[in-house]
Amino acid sequence: MKSTEQLLELISKEINQQKYGVEPDELYEPIRYIMDLGGKRLRPLLATLSYSLFKDDVKSIIPQAIAVEVFHNFTLMHDDIMDEAPLRRNKPTVHEKWNNNTAILSGDVMLVKAYEMIMSEEHPRIMQVLKAFNRCAAEVCEGQQMDMTFETRKTVDEKEYIEMIKLKTAVLLGFSLEMGGLLADTTEENGAALRNFGINIGIGFQLKDDLLDVYADAEKFGKQVGGDIISNKKTFLLIRALELAKGKQKQELENWISKTAFDVKEKVSAVTEIYNQLKIKELTEELMNAYFIKGFESLKAVEAPLHKKAILKKFAEGLINREK
Ligand code: IPE
Ligand code: IPE
Ligand code: MG
Ligand code: MG
Ligand code: MG
Repeated sequence: MKSTEQLLELISKEINQQKYGVEPDELYEPIRYIMDLGGKRLRPLLATLSYSLFKDDVKSIIPQAIAVEVFHNFTLMHDDIMDEAPLRRNKPTVHEKWNNNTAILSGDVMLVKAYEMIMSEEHPRIMQVLKAFNRCAAEVCEGQQMDMTFETRKTVDEKEYIEMIKLKTAVLLGFSLEMGGLLADTTEENGAALRNFGINIGIGFQLKDDLLDVYADAEKFGKQVGGDIISNKKTFLLIRALELAKGKQKQELENWISKTAFDVKEKVSAVTEIYNQLKIKELTEELMNAYFIKGFESLKAVEAPLHKKAILKKFAEGLINREK
């Protein structure tokens, strides 16, 4: 089995050589731009690590693994419009560098390219993979819509939040892992356990992303710190803070949320200060850890050599303490 580093090298090399299309340049240039900005390449790594639990010829699923990364970057391109995000991987977002229409259309064609890559080879289980991908892609949209709807809602409870992040983020990690298993022709049970593993670590992964959005070092994070606070995202941090805050503190938090005109820096530092007082960081870490542990339980149920599963587990553990 290849090491995670070897897989990353293989994936990066393939992405660098990828051709998405030529004319019109205005359509394809933003795709090359976002794909070449890097990123952790988490989803193709999960897909190839998962495949490697069962089979060795990992190169044979590279197109499908890259397809998931293209799909992910398509969702980021549109997500950045929706979130009005200025930065991605330390560079201007596509809609900032070009404009919204460009980001919409380049994103659209990326979705098509992702399908093209998934279907690029004959495979006995391709219909099953496509069905799972369709379901996953629709769920990501459902989660993204919930995320947007929640911005304008006064309160959201923890259960609703978990469902939202499961859809917008976790199911794609689940799909990547399941796809690796399916393409390796593993059992239904293994496929389901891999998907569950992905969904649980995916929920933990988004909790960490929400945490980093407030507490990251901006340079390392590569995205605008405080963006979620500015747009009143109903993250676990805000949900817990609204539940725990009392008296004047609660009043202050609610005031910041309802203000339509404010100084961005002032709002971010005031809300962060309330989070600090309420020990929200620690509470979020606790919940994140619980989901990772739940994920590792699912991984135990996958029937594959222990030393191979250990490589996948170690990689997933690295996501807990990541700084970007
Ligand atoms: C960002 O995904 C969007 C979330 C689901 C949190 P990643 O954190 O995997 O972003 P990159 O691809 O590494 O930049
Ligand atoms: C994004 O969640 C999930 C998807 C892109 C589907 P976020 O909006 O938190 O992701 P970032 O922080 O912009 O990467
Ligand atoms: Mg978003
Ligand atoms: Mg965003
Ligand atoms: Mg985020």
